[in-house]
Amino acid sequence: MSSPELVPGLAGIPAAESSVSFIDGQAGVLEYRGYPIEELSAHSTYEEVAWLLLYGELPTAEELKAFTADLERLRVLPEALVSMVKAFPRTGHPMQALQASLAGLGMVAPKVDLKDAASRDEATRRVIAATPVLVALFERVRAGKEYVAPREGLGTAANFLWCLDGEEPDEVAAKTLDCALVLHAEHTMNASTFACRVVASTENDPYTSCSGAVGALFGPLHGGANERVLNQLGTIGDLSNVEAWFEGKSERKEKVMGFGHRVYKTKDPRAKNLQLLANEMFGKLGSTPKYDIALKLEQVVTEKLGSRGIYPNVDFFSGLVYEKLGLATDVFTPIFAMARVAGYCAHWSEQMLDNKLFRPGQIYKGKRQRAYVSIDKR
Ligand code: ACO
Repeated sequence: MSSPELVPGLAGIPAAESSVSFIDGQAGVLEYRGYPIEELSAHSTYEEVAWLLLYGELPTAEELKAFTADLERLRVLPEALVSMVKAFPRTGHPMQALQASLAGLGMVAPKVDLKDAASRDEATRRVIAATPVLVALFERVRAGKEYVAPREGLGTAANFLWCLDGEEPDEVAAKTLDCALVLHAEHTMNASTFACRVVASTENDPYTSCSGAVGALFGPLHGGANERVLNQLGTIGDLSNVEAWFEGKSERKEKVMGFGHRVYKTKDPRAKNLQLLANEMFGKLGSTPKYDIALKLEQVVTEKLGSRGIYPNVDFFSGLVYEKLGLATDVFTPIFAMARVAGYCAHWSEQMLDNKLFRPGQIYKGKRQRAYVSIDKR
C-alpha cells in the first residue's frame, strides 16, 4: 500500500461527521443546523441559537424559558474562581486569562459524568453561561475595579455589558452584541473547534476541551485577527493613505488582516451581516473615521485580490462594532470566544456520542538507526 500524501494544515480533510453547521465556501453560505445565518441573526437571540446548536432544533418558548433560567443560575461564579481570576497578572492577555479561567471553572465545577446526559448538559450549559462573566471579570480586574456579579433578567449580551460596567446596559448596544454573538457562535471544523474535539477525544470534560480551544483561537491567523484589524486601521490613519499602505503591504508580501479564508472564496457571509449591523449601529450612534477607512480598504483589497478569492472575513467588521460599543481592542477575541463556546460545546457533545481518540499519522523525515555517541565523544 502506498503511503498517504501529506496535506498541509489538513486542508479539506474531514476530521469528523457533523450535523452542527454547514458552509459552502464558493457560494458564501453558512447554516447552523440547517438554518441560514441571515435568518438566525435577524430573528433569534444568542440563547436560542445556543440551544439550537446544542440540541439540533430551535427551542419552543417553554424550552427557551427553562434554558435561560438555567444559564442565569450557572452564571454565578463560585468565590474560589473569582479569587483565582483576581490573582491573575494584570499584564496578561484576556485570552490567556480566559483559557486559564475555563480550566479553573473545571476545577470548581462538579465532576462531569461523561456517561450521564444530565451531567454532560449541565457542564456544557455552565461553560456557555460562565464564559462571558469570566471575560468581564478579568476586564474589571485589570482595570483595578471590583467584580460585578451577574444580574437576573438579562440575556447573555446584556448581562456581559452589565458585568463589564455595573451600569444598566444600553439597549442598542445589547441588541448589537447579541447579534454579533449569534454570528460568531459556530463555524464547522475550524482550528479551535478541531482543537476542542481533539481534547474531548481523550475523554475530557467541556471545561478542559473549551480551554484548549480558546488557546487555538488566540492566534493571529484565527480569532486573534479581529484585534489586529483595528490596529491596522489605526496605522492607516487616513482615507488618503489606504492605497499606499496596501501597496507597501503587497511589496513586503504581508497579509492584510481581516481578509482571506481557508474555506470562503467569496465575502464571508458573517462579514456581510456584521457590515449590516455596523451600518445600523453607526446610523443610530454615529459613524467612526475607521469605518470609512475600512470601506475603502475593502474596495482596494477586493480589486487587487478578489480574483484570488481573497475577500473580507468575519474579523474585518467585528472589531469596528466592538470598538463603537466601547470595548477594549484586546477583548475582541475573548468576545469571539464567549460566543463560540456554544459551537465548541455542540461539537464536544457530538464527539462524546461517538468518540474515537484522535491519533493521526505522520510522514517521518528524520534519521534512523543511528549509532549512539557518548557525551565525551560529541
Ligand atoms: N492578504 C494578502 N494576501 C493573502 C491574504 C491576506 N489576508 N490571505 C491569503 N493571502 C495570499 C497569501 O499570501 C498566499 O499568497 P501566495 O500564494 O502568493 O504565497 C495565498 O493568498 C494563500 O495564502 P494562505 O495563507 O496559504 O491561504 P489560506 O487559505 O490558508 O488562508 C488565512 C487563510 C490563514 C485565514 C489567510 O487568508 C490569512 O492569513 N488571513 C489574514 C488573517 C485573518 O484575517 N485571519 C482570520 C481568518 S477568519 C477566522 O479565523 C475567524
